[in-house]
Amino acid sequence: VRERTLIAVKPDGVQRRLVGQIIQRFEQRGFKLVGLKMLQVSDDLLSQHYCELRTKPFYPRLQEYMTSGPVVVMVWEGHKVVQASRTMVGHTNPLEAQAGTIRGDFSFHISRNVVHASDSLEGAQREIQLWFQKKELLNWDCFD
Ligand code: CMP
Repeated sequence: VRERTLIAVKPDGVQRRLVGQIIQRFEQRGFKLVGLKMLQVSDDLLSQHYCELRTKPFYPRLQEYMTSGPVVVMVWEGHKVVQASRTMVGHTNPLEAQAGTIRGDFSFHISRNVVHASDSLEGAQREIQLWFQKKELLNWDCFD
């Protein structure tokens, strides 16, 4: 099953120069990068991205964090990439994330958890449409 998912390096990941290491993990796993950009997130885009969290008590803090600096957002493609990336990223709370996962290796606090990964196929489709225009996603089937 070929899928696509949205992965974002959050402002703390960019600031800590972790972008390369995060990209490397997805590349070495064999997934294909089909979209990539860096941007400063607006409050509006963020509230659409986190539409289910808008009413949570921690939302203002989440908004402040996610708009505190640029994010690097990517679309990765491959077999069961949605589930595979959730495993690679690790538990939302870094204290419960296993060593070897991105969060387990690079973070220790839930409100500074370095990276976002879509949580389902439907979520991935919604998020990809929200963050990327169709022409920003490239099909480059050279060798596979
Ligand atoms: P993410 O997987 O990107 O999706 C929702 C984000 O909300 C999550 O990562 C955390 O950064 C944040 N989040 C979830 N729960 C809490 C919480 N209890 N306190 C602060 N931030 C949270």
